[in-house]
Amino acid sequence: MTEDLIIFYSRTGSTRTVAEKLKELLDCDIIEITDKKPRRGFLKAIGCSIDAIKKNLTDIEYNKKDLKKYNRIFIMTPIWASNIPPAIRTFLTLEKSDILNYKLILTYKGSDINKPIKEISEILDTYPSNTFDIIHKDIKSGSFMLNLNGMTK
Ligand SMILES: Cc1cc2nc3c(=O)[nH]c(=O)nc-3n(C[C@H](O)[C@H](O)[C@H](O)COP(=O)(O)O)c2cc1C
Repeated sequence: MTEDLIIFYSRTGSTRTVAEKLKELLDCDIIEITDKKPRRGFLKAIGCSIDAIKKNLTDIEYNKKDLKKYNRIFIMTPIWASNIPPAIRTFLTLEKSDILNYKLILTYKGSDINKPIKEISEILDTYPSNTFDIIHKDIKSGSFMLNLNGMTK
């Protein structure tokens, strides 16, 4: 039996929406990464971008699991300022030795996705086996559901 694991960070719920639908489809384990630094609100968004651009780490919480036991790991994150959020950067930095093979799912509003893919690949020392990108408005409208099956192949 294939054991899948979804790992995600979400500030405002879009990435969580996709992660939860994918979990329903795969019937698999899931890890939500929480950033202990307050990130909500319009003004805090500026700090989010600065932290992302500066590649800052942060304090995070998550349910620890043995990542090595999973055949497939789906890493899901929003894009911040063409970078990755500190919570994802911190998680990957802490757990990189146990992530050997992964699929990447990015949520974003439409900017270039190559930089965050490269960032994550450099931290993990390997490129994702697949990358899927989902535009924010397709999450809001629900049309991302049409592509969900393709992500599980
Ligand atoms: C601080 C911040 C920076 C962002 N920077 C980008 C960006 O550079 N490019 C982009 O396409 N979307 C950007 N976005 C939009 C988010 O990536 C997008 O809305 C994402 O789906 C939010 O996911 P979440 O609701 O799970 O937090 C940014 C959002 C925030 C809050």
